[in-house]
Amino acid sequence: MVAKLIQKITEEALKKQAGWAPAGLSAGEIFVEKSANLQLGDYAVNIAFSLAKELKKPPQEVAQILAESINFIKPPEINEVRAADGYVNFFLSLDFLRTELNNINKNRSKFGRSDIGRGKRVIVEYSQPNIAKQMHIGHLRTTALGDALANIYETLGYKVVRWNYLGDWGTQFGKLLTAYKLWGNKKELEINPIPVLNELYVRFHQELKEHLELERRGQEEFSKLERGDKENRKLWEWFKKLSLKEFEKIYGLLGIRFDTLIGESFFEKELGPLVTELRERGIAEAGNEGAIIIKLDAFKLPPALIQKADGASLYLTRDIAALKYRLTKYKPDKILYVVGNEQALHFQQLSAVAEILGLLKPEHVKYGLVLGEDKKKMSTREGEAIPLTEVIKKAVNLARDVVAKKNPALSEKERAQIASTVAIGALKYEMLKDNRNSDIVFSWDKMLDFTGNSAPYLQYTYARLSSILKKAGRTGRADLGQLSEEPEIAIIKMLLDFPDTIAESARTNLTSNLALFLYGLANLANRFYETTPVIKDDNAPRRNARLKLIETSASILKTGLGFLGINVLDRI
Ligand code: ARG
Repeated sequence: MVAKLIQKITEEALKKQAGWAPAGLSAGEIFVEKSANLQLGDYAVNIAFSLAKELKKPPQEVAQILAESINFIKPPEINEVRAADGYVNFFLSLDFLRTELNNINKNRSKFGRSDIGRGKRVIVEYSQPNIAKQMHIGHLRTTALGDALANIYETLGYKVVRWNYLGDWGTQFGKLLTAYKLWGNKKELEINPIPVLNELYVRFHQELKEHLELERRGQEEFSKLERGDKENRKLWEWFKKLSLKEFEKIYGLLGIRFDTLIGESFFEKELGPLVTELRERGIAEAGNEGAIIIKLDAFKLPPALIQKADGASLYLTRDIAALKYRLTKYKPDKILYVVGNEQALHFQQLSAVAEILGLLKPEHVKYGLVLGEDKKKMSTREGEAIPLTEVIKKAVNLARDVVAKKNPALSEKERAQIASTVAIGALKYEMLKDNRNSDIVFSWDKMLDFTGNSAPYLQYTYARLSSILKKAGRTGRADLGQLSEEPEIAIIKMLLDFPDTIAESARTNLTSNLALFLYGLANLANRFYETTPVIKDDNAPRRNARLKLIETSASILKTGLGFLGINVLDRI
């Protein structure tokens, strides 16, 4: 928002210098950055460096001329412009900041929204658990990331399709069917579906060591399933139904919803024809021992295996079919796959195949591992990933203690409700606050620390601001002109960055910058409240102006946390 304004002002100043503006230089090419040091200015422009080369003058001299020219024009939004080390530094005017605060406050429920995505559609694929398996902590990362990105795109005016691409097909179901037929028990499975299915799967692999014939049996059961065998089909559907019910419970706790759950099995019928088509078009060819491959030498990638020698279909083939289906059915402008770093090669191959086929390329929105505090993969004593249900349970229990300590006066019911909001918020924020490309070291203490960079801290700040507003009751006329203390001005400057932060999140598919923004805003709001009298201010118009600042900050905190899928609380 402010960046655009400064681009425009700079462009105007450039035009005033006869013979200066290189042909075609437009506002969009003027790069505006926020100053790291507010002493130097609020925003800086580095255009003098590139102009200096063309004009054969030192950058500082060019910057100086530009600064003088802007100071001469004196746009009302700018208080002063100074040149330093070749940069042109802008200081915003107090009047502009106060007017903006008023505008933001008036439209606070819509602030951050835009229409840059109007008429465009994006498919966001996330969560993607595998049927008959536990969801674990890694699923929390894709689920939280995907949901937040979907929210952000929506706010920018995009039509979003939230897609949970279930892992409900593949040779593992042959193994599971075998194990169930040999050792399964209907009642047990109904009571505790996922752990029991998991055990069956583990047992299959244990017994396989001694009974090698099980491998064959597994393959046979899977091909029966593929051919539509009634019994196998029914069992598979039952496994799927039971698993989905468990997943739904988790999504309910996390407040996550999807528009479609179409998973891998949906594309089964299309795989044969797809392989044939790819062969006929000369894109796919026979590889070793009867397998079918797509050579990707031109992309410096290993060949994509799309059909095994025994005719069995593959994960990648299903993804090619799914991509085609999505493009035909939804005509998206963008398609995001929120999947871990470890599948990078798979998505490079998918992307290469898409290019060969002339299809829209999938964007792999990758993320790192979630590690325990010992920097190792979080696992149970048996070496398996910790189930997500356990993680949530533990977070809620810990949150209950922390909340009880913070506010012992709460009733049992209130405490339980607050603890759940705090715990879910903390878990999600932990997944979203870092750059998604890096691994996370998961720390229960830090995650629930009310004084650190955590969701509870942000929720607590919101609750604090809300309680001030509640205490203040109805307010009268506010004189924003009386806002001039540094902590007040710093908040307004920060608020102005919200729309750009959101747009940047969508551009990079990152949530870390939004989290950092909210943390920064919360810090400023707390500092303001601790250093400046608000309710106790006896200058009524100034008191009301300060309350307006609090009201706006609280509202933007709530909106921003909402984008991250985190709920706020009026009290903690
Ligand atoms: N279900 C898969 C797994 O757990 C992830 C699916 C990722 N999405 C995709 N379109 N391949 O490994």
